[in-house]
Order: sequence, then structure tokens, then C-alpha cells
Amino acid sequence: MITVIRSIEEWNQYRTNDVGDRSLGFVPTMGGLHEGHCSLAERSLSENDFTAVSIFLNRTQFNKAADYDSYPADFAQDVGKLEILGVDAVFAPDYDSMYPDSYNYRVSEHVDSLPREGARRPGHFDGVLTVVMKLLNISGAGRAYFGEKDYQQLQLVKGMVDTFFMPIEIVSCETVRAFDGLALSSRNRRLSDEARTKAATFPQILSSAQSSEEAIALLEDAGFEMEYVEEEDGRRFGAVTLEGVRLIDNWKLAVAAPR
Ligand code: PAF
Repeated sequence: MITVIRSIEEWNQYRTNDVGDRSLGFVPTMGGLHEGHCSLAERSLSENDFTAVSIFLNRTQFNKAADYDSYPADFAQDVGKLEILGVDAVFAPDYDSMYPDSYNYRVSEHVDSLPREGARRPGHFDGVLTVVMKLLNISGAGRAYFGEKDYQQLQLVKGMVDTFFMPIEIVSCETVRAFDGLALSSRNRRLSDEARTKAATFPQILSSAQSSEEAIALLEDAGFEMEYVEEEDGRRFGAVTLEGVRLIDNWKLAVAAPR
């Protein structure tokens, strides 16, 4: 039986009495669980004695109210999926217990958070880093699992954990894709059938274009609303909008073979 925990006090008791000295893996989520989240939980299950998943729709990281309001949430369904996987506990606190300070205190990063997602979503990474620090500190876990789809988030979380000497290992996990290559995301379910079919050309173009400029031109021709295609540290990052749904993805660039 999976244990559903709603308060920090209850979590602390569970952490002390049920987990004790055994290893604990932690997967932070906002719900709307898909195969990508499940693969993070499976990885944790294979590497730890206990696995806990948090479900907390973190208002502070949404810069648009409409995006927050339309975020898919079905708590009972999410818990059911996690129970089938064999996850031990779900931690689902409410907003007031996570933000007793009304979000007066926040974690900000001032260099790597500025481009790409940071430039398009003001305040987003403050909200992410603040809630991730709170969740990881509460969890007392030895490992936490994050997907590479949100690559900038993953790098910033790793940087925060190093900077603040947080005693937890951040495990990065490969992006999980649908049969046609589209990176799984909770937001994909808001696409119409037609847009969902078209969405698969986004990773195809992003991964195969010879340059960012070519990718932008091809994505525009294909009917995507462009946000950015940028390259950094041997990776190409892209964000587009389709039917008002934001899609993001990133690929490691192939290194040219020496001649
Ligand atoms: O990647 C997410 O789903 C969220 O940004 C996270 C890490 C759960 C923080 O709310």
C-alpha cells in the first residue's frame, strides 16, 4: 500500500519511523504524471530502499495564471499510477505549509537562469529553485531524480545543491519520448489530434537542422510559433508554441568527426 502524506509533520514522522536509516530516493513533481515521471520513479525504485514522490503544483513558478489554471491535475489517478509502480509514499503538502513566509524568502540564481526559459518566463526559476530547496530539505533523501527535458532546470538545481552544500545527489535522467519522438510533457494532452501529430516535427527539426538559424526557419515554415532555438555547451535548446501550448526540448549536438 502506498502511503499518502499531506503534512510536513506527518512526513517527518514517516521519515524517522518508516524509512529510518534506509536509503531514500525522491522524485519531485507537480502531478499530471506521465511515462516520463514514471521512469524517474522507476529509476529511484531500482537505486533506493524507499522511494517517495511529491505532488505539489507550485504556483510560484508559473508566470502566467492561465498556465497554472490549466495544468492537468488528477490526484487520485496520479497516486494510482505510483501505487502500481511500487512507490512507497506520496508527499502532497498544501501551499500554506510550503510557504509559511508568503514567499518572502526565495532562492535566485543570477547568471545561468537568465537566458532561454528564464528570459521568457520571468520569475520562473526563482519559484522552481525555492520550492526544490524546500522539498529536498524536507525530504531528507539521499538522491533526487530530475529529467533532462528541463535541462536548464536540472543544471540550476545541481548548481544550487553544490552552492548551498545540500547533502543530496541529483540524478539526471534521459528525456522520455513518445513513439514519434515528442518529449513527454503534462502539457501535451492539451494539444488537438492534429497539433499533436504536427508536434512530432519539433524534435525532428531541432535535432537534424544544420544550425539554429536553419531550425528556426524550418520550424516557422512548419507553422510553429517560435520562441527560441539557441546553442550552448554542445547542446541545442528550443521552445515553440502550438495551439497556445508551449513545447520545449533539447539535444546534444553531434561532434564533427576529425578529418
Ligand atoms: O519539473 C517540475 O515538474 C517542477 O519544476 C518541479 C521540479 C517539480 C518543481 O516544482
